[in-house]
Amino acid sequence: MPEKSGCEYGVSPEDREAIRNSIRQKYAEVSISAGGKFNYPTGRIGAETLRYEPDAIRQAPSGLLESFCGVGNPFSLGEIRPGATLLDFGCGSGFDLFVASRLVGRAGLVCGVDLTKDMIDQTISHLDHAGIRNYEAWQIDSEIIPYPDNFFDVVLSNGVINLSPCKLTCFREIYRVLTPGGRMQFADVILEHDLPADMKDSPEAWSQ
Ligand SMILES: C[S@@+](CC[C@H](N)C(=O)[O-])C[C@H]1O[C@@H](n2cnc3c(N)ncnc32)[C@H](O)[C@@H]1O
Repeated sequence: MPEKSGCEYGVSPEDREAIRNSIRQKYAEVSISAGGKFNYPTGRIGAETLRYEPDAIRQAPSGLLESFCGVGNPFSLGEIRPGATLLDFGCGSGFDLFVASRLVGRAGLVCGVDLTKDMIDQTISHLDHAGIRNYEAWQIDSEIIPYPDNFFDVVLSNGVINLSPCKLTCFREIYRVLTPGGRMQFADVILEHDLPADMKDSPEAWSQ
């Protein structure tokens, strides 16, 4: 889908693509295993540290947890009701989708989108293997979400928006696809200090 709007922060279209390519390169590797690639706990230990439901952790196929690299627990922010439609923006290899699919049940639908094709391939492989039927997963090329207006009751996101050079577009798109009164539940990382100039000017630094 074409990018409808420009990007804030004056990031040129060329730099945007360079940033996205470096993200895809890093997360193609993470889609196999997140081990040793982050300075916070990932995988099964990460999910336990973030107090995900023990049953969900126990029942997740091991490969699914291997590449989990969420920075928080968006489920702690509000109840996900049976029958809900839910989007995971930047679903990675699918652990949050797996958790959500159990909460919304057969009457609900969970949808994942991610910039990195390898992540989406892993999501489909893990969730099919786990027998999950109430899900969809799509690779996307930008912040544009391939769903109509007012489609989702809840949008989750976990460790994704910090990676986008077009954060305003992320929030506009999330707002667009949420139903009136719908909820966004997200966890992310924020900068507390200015970055050194050499990092600021490096497209590769966005994925580090
Ligand atoms: C830190 S990982 C988190 C993955 C997943 N949410 C989890 O908790 O395991 C960040 C993910 O965001 C994806 N990503 C980065 N920028 C994105 C964008 N603009 N739109 C969608 N996904 C994006 C990456 O490909 C990667 O899978």
